[in-house]
Amino acid sequence: MADAKRIYDRLKTLSAFSEKNEEGTTRLSYTPEYRRAADYVKAQMEEVGLQVREDAAGIIWGRLPGTDPNAPKILSGSHLDTVRCSGFYDGQAGIICALEAAQMIQESGIQLKRDFEVAAIPMEEGARFPNLSGSKLAAGLLKEEDLDQLRDTEGITLRQAMQSYGLPGRLDGVDRSGEPVKAFLELHMEQGPILEEEGLDVGVVESIFGCYWKTITVRGEVSHPSTPMERRKDAGLAACRIVTDISRHVEEVYQGRATVTCGKMRFHPDEINAIPSRAVFSLDFRSGQQQCFDELDAWLEEEIAQVERAYRVTVEQEVFSNTPPTPSDGAVVSAIRTAAQELGLGWKMMSSGAGHDAMIFAKVWPMGMVFIPSHEGYTHSPKEYTSPEALARGADVLYEAIRILDKEN
Ligand code: GLV
Ligand code: MN
Ligand code: MN
Repeated sequence: MADAKRIYDRLKTLSAFSEKNEEGTTRLSYTPEYRRAADYVKAQMEEVGLQVREDAAGIIWGRLPGTDPNAPKILSGSHLDTVRCSGFYDGQAGIICALEAAQMIQESGIQLKRDFEVAAIPMEEGARFPNLSGSKLAAGLLKEEDLDQLRDTEGITLRQAMQSYGLPGRLDGVDRSGEPVKAFLELHMEQGPILEEEGLDVGVVESIFGCYWKTITVRGEVSHPSTPMERRKDAGLAACRIVTDISRHVEEVYQGRATVTCGKMRFHPDEINAIPSRAVFSLDFRSGQQQCFDELDAWLEEEIAQVERAYRVTVEQEVFSNTPPTPSDGAVVSAIRTAAQELGLGWKMMSSGAGHDAMIFAKVWPMGMVFIPSHEGYTHSPKEYTSPEALARGADVLYEAIRILDKEN
């Protein structure tokens, strides 16, 4: 069985590879903290006896060779980056539990037919570069030219960030989409309270909600606070109006079928005594139904036209990231479900409200996800917690699912 203490100790060690002076763990991709975490993961993989390769995008792959080099392989892992002030489970638990499964295979002396590889992936969070960019590179969905197009908030291009991290700044060997893969498995904390509330051990993910990000720029005119209200071109007020209107609309119309979040807003010139000439904000839409995104796009167009007239401003929208709702693969789901049943665990089928690298890999390979409980559903928060025992049960499910998938044709 999986070793709960070994899993927890590795996660705890990883948690220290964080920006200082921040609450919780902050590890943005290609930073010095990310390098220290990556080196630790590589060392742990080597200790387990995996053949370790850091590719030109900084994705770490730890390979346990199978007996049949031509058999489609099994891959499992998650992201090593975090949002600011995160916990140390989101993403990281999926890497460490996949590593635990590899160690269990080694220690039990069984020999898999298929190669099994553990993955640690950058740029899932979008805290620095657009979300899911690491898995998109591995799935061949971003190209060489994107390295110069994608920029972080400081204007640093992805190619520059990779180069200062010690990578070559090219993509040789990164795209693995042409390789035969039996399954990509991702273990992740649920990021919701359901498993804990229902006293269950495992969620078998049947689909992942789509995730649609926009950057909205409102342009008005800077002026003094003594300017009469009816003469202002207040970009800040117009931005706040759009955010409150769309939030109310989503709550009233979609009732649990979609969410919208404004997590970022900046005003220019950002002075207490100046009416903002510019406001830039983010919108994050989530839904299990593509139709909701299409409807919300149309609704937002109309809302913007009204706000432009009412506030004498202009508004531009830019799509920052767009990942549609994604179903899991039936055969992989069935292997995970059988694994949970054979272990005598409590499980249920569920959807994921959060985004995951697995939804990108689903475009090129069969994909399935194992959820484990999140205490009180806390996530993207230093309060994230999953007990060592719950982590170990998740690793047991991964291990069994790998063995089931290995035996299939
Ligand atoms: C990833 O954590 C997401 O934003 O869903
Ligand atoms: Mn996350
Ligand atoms: Mn995550």
